[in-house]
Amino acid sequence: MNKLIVSLLLTLGITGVAHAAGDATAGQTKAAVCGACHGPDGNSPAPNFPKLAGQGERYLTKQMHDIKDGKRTVLEMTGLLTNLSDQDLADIAAYYASQAGSVGAADPKIVARGEALFRGGNLEKGLPACTGCHSPDGSGNAAAGFPHLGGQHAQYIAKQLTDFRKEEAGRANDGDAMTMRTIARKLSDEDIAAVSSYIQGLHK
Ligand code: HEC
Ligand code: HEC
Repeated sequence: MNKLIVSLLLTLGITGVAHAAGDATAGQTKAAVCGACHGPDGNSPAPNFPKLAGQGERYLTKQMHDIKDGKRTVLEMTGLLTNLSDQDLADIAAYYASQAGSVGAADPKIVARGEALFRGGNLEKGLPACTGCHSPDGSGNAAAGFPHLGGQHAQYIAKQLTDFRKEEAGRANDGDAMTMRTIARKLSDEDIAAVSSYIQGLHK
């Protein structure tokens, strides 16, 4: 076999071991403290606390590491992840990913604008459709780490888009977040309100 392919396979194999698979049952116990804000099954009742139920494992794991390492600022979670190991975070991610996400409702007054933006982007502004990465039903792409958005609280979504728009705020400054920063900077306040409301009511 070609030497390059062998070394590639070895690299992939090692990567596979480094990212230990999560155990959803163990994760449920470890996530008990999180339920106070995110809801016992990850369907948070409060609009400023994100729903985690049905979110992709890869995305969840990345955000927990970002928050733990201080790359993403979540004051409410200060100290909560400090004593959790990589395995704990993987287990918690597996638990929330296994739960069914609940859905809210869109505001009928602005839903049409939100839908047009989500599905078609804006050619003049060079804004890509959100569906390209977050999928037409808002379920994202778990393998690629593109988050599930469908049914998420509009207030939380709007805050994230506003944070991405700012130079220094909230989210990490890595490749994934840079993609969203570029996109969010092309959104007006009205765009953000409309697309966030549309996302809140979006489901399979
Ligand atoms: C006191 C309330 C509170 C508690 C307890 C809490 N969180 Fe959070 N969490 C938040 C808030 C608020 C945000 C969103 C911050 C923002 O607006 O960016 C968040 C965001 C998150 C996110 C990012 C979600 C996304 O869609 O990007 C993850 C993952 C998360 N929390 C996991 C956890 C885990 C795991 C625990 C338990 C170990 C926990 N949280 C406990 C308040 C809380
Ligand atoms: C090229 C791919 C791509 C496109 C197109 C895209 N996104 Fe994203 N989006 C991402 C990635 C990757 C992340 C995760 C960023 C991170 O890791 O911090 C993300 C994160 C988000 C988040 C944060 C979710 C959470 O739970 O905190 C929101 C909200 C969001 N995108 C909304 C949108 C909207 C609205 C559009 C269309 C206007 C859009 N995205 C277009 C790739 C994309």
